[in-house]
Amino acid sequence: MTNAAPLTDSFHRVHDNLRISVTDRCNIRCFYCMPETDVKFVERREILDFEEIERFVRIAAGLGIRKLRVTGGEPLVRRDLPVLIERLAKIPGIQDLALTTNGVLLGEQAEALHAAGLRRLNVHIDTLDRARFLQITRRDDLGRVLDGLETAKRLGFKIKLNAVAVKNLVEADIVPLAQFARENGFEVRYIEFMPLDAQNLWDRGKVLLVDDIIAQLSREISPLTPVPDPDPRAPATEYVYQDGGGMVGFIASVSRPFCLNCNRLRLTADGKLRYCLFAIQEDDVKGLMRSGAPDEEIAALVRRNVGDKWLGHEINSGKFVAPPRPMYSIGG
Ligand code: 5AD
Ligand code: SF4
Repeated sequence: MTNAAPLTDSFHRVHDNLRISVTDRCNIRCFYCMPETDVKFVERREILDFEEIERFVRIAAGLGIRKLRVTGGEPLVRRDLPVLIERLAKIPGIQDLALTTNGVLLGEQAEALHAAGLRRLNVHIDTLDRARFLQITRRDDLGRVLDGLETAKRLGFKIKLNAVAVKNLVEADIVPLAQFARENGFEVRYIEFMPLDAQNLWDRGKVLLVDDIIAQLSREISPLTPVPDPDPRAPATEYVYQDGGGMVGFIASVSRPFCLNCNRLRLTADGKLRYCLFAIQEDDVKGLMRSGAPDEEIAALVRRNVGDKWLGHEINSGKFVAPPRPMYSIGG
């Protein structure tokens, strides 16, 4: 680790959070992310190998990155992922390591991931209804996800559930999912549907708004009150149930954009650095690495990328242009 100046953008936001996509492949096909058929995956040799990922994280940790999240596609389809996790968990400076998964392979891999040092999981699940799970993900794998959750819970993982809020689709799932989370000690987070799907299905009318979900949960389970934000830079706003039944989180990416506090950087599976989910610009880390560049040059690229960061996405303005990559190839 070096004692370099913090990674600060031109709006004084300090960046200490990195999300790394380890593959753009996925074993299911959520419609708000992937097309049903003919998904265009990056070729294998274009994907960063474990040495390259580890090297990048070391450099980033030297620049002040403290929180790391491994994403996909679906990260558990990457061969030997626990080996990578173990290496990342040991990097000096990394204080928090988490993984986002769809949970389908969790039952098989939870134990190895735990042994590798992972303690936090975000599991993506929108519904407990088998037919709707199939409709959303185009795969009949709800049972495997539920088994995976059970295994991970038994091992002691800290688990959050991610549910994408799509209007006229998941209204009937909101309460059962919240109840399921309460019963199991998971925190559910509802994420407003964002314009990142591969088929350009998104429009504002398809977003189930956080305010409506809060009203529904308050009415049907127990009144919700916002908790003072422990980390204003985290995108979720958290609420507690009045009856003491735990917390629930909301990511109001569309109705209440949280860009002003953003502290995140993203590295795609093919080694491109992005300062925003919605960025058009990306910087080629892999190209630099494979041309033999020293660490300092890669660190300089990271600083430049952060320096170019814009103030916020423009989902709510007429100027908005969806990024050329859909969710599975960015990593969420
Ligand atoms: N809008 C909002 N969230 C999405 N996710 C995937 N696609 C979208 C979208 N279009 C979520 C999934 C996954 C996380 C990385 O991003 O729930 O857990
Ligand atoms: Fe796969 Fe995640 Fe995209 Fe669903 S949202 S298709 S689980 S990458």
